[in-house]
Order: sequence, then structure tokens, then C-alpha cells
Amino acid sequence: SANKTWSGRFNEPVSELVKRYTASVFFDNRMAEVDIQGSLAHAGMLNQVGVLSDEDLRAIQGGMADILDDIRAGRFEWSLDLEDVHMNIERRLTDKIGDAGKRLHTGRSRNDQVATDIRLYLRGAIDVLLGLVRDLQRSLVDLAEKNASTVMPGFTHLQVAQPVTFGHHMLAYVEMLGRDAERLADARKRVNRMPLGSAALAGTTFPIDRTITAKLLGFEGICENSLDAVSDRDFAIEFTAAGALIMTHLSRLSEELILWMSPRYGFIDIADRFCTGSSIMPQKKNPDVPELVRGKTGRVNGHLVALLTLMKGQPLAYNKDNQEDKEGLFDTVDTLTDTLRIYADMMRGITVKPEAMERAAKQGFATATDLADYLVKRGLPFRDAHEAVALAVRYAEEKKKDLADLTLVELKSFSPLIEDDVQQVLTLQGSLDARNHVGGTAPFQVLVQVAKWRERIGG
Ligand code: ARG
Repeated sequence: SANKTWSGRFNEPVSELVKRYTASVFFDNRMAEVDIQGSLAHAGMLNQVGVLSDEDLRAIQGGMADILDDIRAGRFEWSLDLEDVHMNIERRLTDKIGDAGKRLHTGRSRNDQVATDIRLYLRGAIDVLLGLVRDLQRSLVDLAEKNASTVMPGFTHLQVAQPVTFGHHMLAYVEMLGRDAERLADARKRVNRMPLGSAALAGTTFPIDRTITAKLLGFEGICENSLDAVSDRDFAIEFTAAGALIMTHLSRLSEELILWMSPRYGFIDIADRFCTGSSIMPQKKNPDVPELVRGKTGRVNGHLVALLTLMKGQPLAYNKDNQEDKEGLFDTVDTLTDTLRIYADMMRGITVKPEAMERAAKQGFATATDLADYLVKRGLPFRDAHEAVALAVRYAEEKKKDLADLTLVELKSFSPLIEDDVQQVLTLQGSLDARNHVGGTAPFQVLVQVAKWRERIGG
């Protein structure tokens, strides 16, 4: 169509299907604000180096301000014929202000323009996500503090292993999220470099000053090779990988919440507003939110693989393949944003049931290792202690008793080293208190960690 910005050299218009197939405007218009920001910085730089007159710059600034108003008010009509967000805005500008609008694209290409837009958009998204990760951490730290001495069974292989505190368990996720935040912050450094000025692929013949534009846009530096700048999306891949790990961590927690809410465990209850019922079974209360978090992890993992696959076959420099980077990236941002937000609320609304946790901890001989350690401290080699305690467990199991319920006489039959001070060792509380070193599950250590996290993340 004669309407197209680049139609000068073509003999026939593209078909409707091709138009739809190649257009990106209906998803890349979410970058409209950063696109305008980039254009204003580019125009400002062109003016400073003497390529654009003061008059043209003022016209561009005025026109863009109106366009921004229209976009924010939902009045801007996006046109499929104009392909993408960049050409829609540029055309509107030219309709409004004439030749000055046509001069905006001097020394620039959509290739460096779009690469810049994605980075600006992603930088903003990362800053929001970092705040949300912190907030979720705060909700978990609060739970940890309240449950610093709430005993529960710690599991390996989903079998009762040793007693831990619920607070300690929550802090494990706080630590995972701490690394997630580090990863986001680290990816941000490489997101925050500016491709603009690379033009289509080789740079431009105009006397541009990229440092001016970079400064105006708050970039920490510029991408120094123009071919690389317009074509690589590794920063988006890194971000998505960090996002996939956030989802993976929350998927693990979700799996636990789902198990813990099942009556077989009964460790917690999730507030009604995060659950739904069944259309047929009147008694049901299902943990939909954690289930969906677990499910949505699949889509973010999928976006990561899609982006990697998108890149792997592309020769330098820009190829239209890259237009496919956006939907997965945006969906990753949306999924992370909603998931983190809902998760912090949900964790603030869970009810902990300490009696059920304690009962479960008493059922699996969780203090067997403590008894073995006790024997070792009295001189028995660890392997022999292991063997003696294994026999005691077998005996207790037959008698349907916990180790703590065996009499001293019964216990002594497995090792003469056992004295009456063993009782303290066999209780859940004794087991917890004994693991009193950095990273251990002792309630005292949990409170030390809570204080450390509060200092790091505030709240
Ligand atoms: N919509 C395009 C994208 O998302 C903008 C860049 C187009 N460049 C080009 N040479 N066709 O990648």
C-alpha cells in the first residue's frame, strides 16, 4: 500500500495475510512510552550536534507530548498498516508537525530503535520486579519470625528426616529469592547499555554523539559494536533465565503449600480468597493459586527456550526473527509480576497449624540422628552408633513407640553408653536447640537470620 513508510521501491502491496503476519503493533505498542522517550533523546542529541534545528526539535517535542497524552488516555489509534509501534508513532508525529517529524529518523534505524526500546522497557520492568521480590521476602521473613520455634518434620525423599522449624523452612525460600534478586540486578547491568546510534547495522554518516543520548536515557554505557548492538538479545535471554529460576523456586514452594494444605498433612491453611471450590463436589476447597504458579512456571521456562532457539541460527546483524522476542518476554514480565504480587499476599494469609506439624515430626523417628550423635560424643565410632540406633528404631517401630518413649532400660539394651541425660537429646526441642550454628535450624539461629534479612531488605 502507498501508505507504507518503505513502499517506494515495491511494485505491489503485501497481502492482508502477510500484513498481519509481519505486523507487531498490537503487542509492541506496550513500548510506546519508551519509544517516545528514545525518540526525544535522539532528537535532543541531533540538535546538540547541529543536525537538527532548534525549531524542529521544539516541534518534535510538542508533537510527542500530544501523542503521549493520546496514548495515555487510550485515544491513540494503532494501525496495522503501519506495522509496528515505531512507525505508528512516527507517522502520527509527521501528520501533526510535518517535515520536522520526517527528520526525526535521521541517523537512526528501527533496528537500533527497537533494541533500545526493549532495553528501556526491560530496565523498568526489572526495577518493579526487584521491589516485588523484596516484598515477598518480607512476607516470608515475617512468617519465619513468628515461627522461629515452630517445630515441623524436615524431609528428605519426602520421608521424615530430622526436626526443623517452620521459620527455618521459610528462610530457605528467602535465601533463594535473595539470589534471584541478585540475578535480576546483575542482568540489569547488561540490559542498561544503549544500542542507539548503531543505526541499521554499521553506524551512521552523521556526526552523532552517543554519550549524549545515553546520558539522556540513563544508560550506564553504550553497546560499542554496532553489529552486535542491533542483533543480540542475550540480555533478554538472561532476564528470562532469571525469571525461570524465580518461577522454579516459587513452584517448589507451591508444591509444598499444596501438600501441606492437604488433610494428609494439615500443616497449614490457605486463606479462602486464594482458593476455589468445585462445581460438583460441595466440600472442596482447592489451592488454585499455588497450583497455577506451578503451572505457569512451564510457560516461563518455555519462553526461555523459545528465546534461545530464536537466537541460535541468526547470522549478524538484525533479522526479522527478532520481532519474535517480544511476546514471550512481555508474558514473562507479566507472569512474574502477577505471581510475585499474589504470592506475597497469599503468604501473609496462611494459617500455620503447629500441633499438626509437631505430631508429624514425632511420627518418623526424626531424632534418630541425634541419638547417634549422642553415642559418638561418648566415644562410639559413627558407623557403630548408626547401627545401634537403627536397631533401636526397629525395636521402637515394633512397639509402636517413638524413641523418646522408650525407657532407659530399653535404650541401654542397644548401647551401654546411654545414660539418663539422653532424654533431652531425644526430644524435638532438644534436637532443634542442638543445631545452633550459622545456617542451623535452632530457633536462636532462625532469629539471628531474621534480623540479618531485615537489615538487608528492610521491613
Ligand atoms: N518491529 C520490528 C522488531 O520488532 C522493528 C525492527 C524492524 N526492522 C526491520 N529492519 N524490519 O524487530
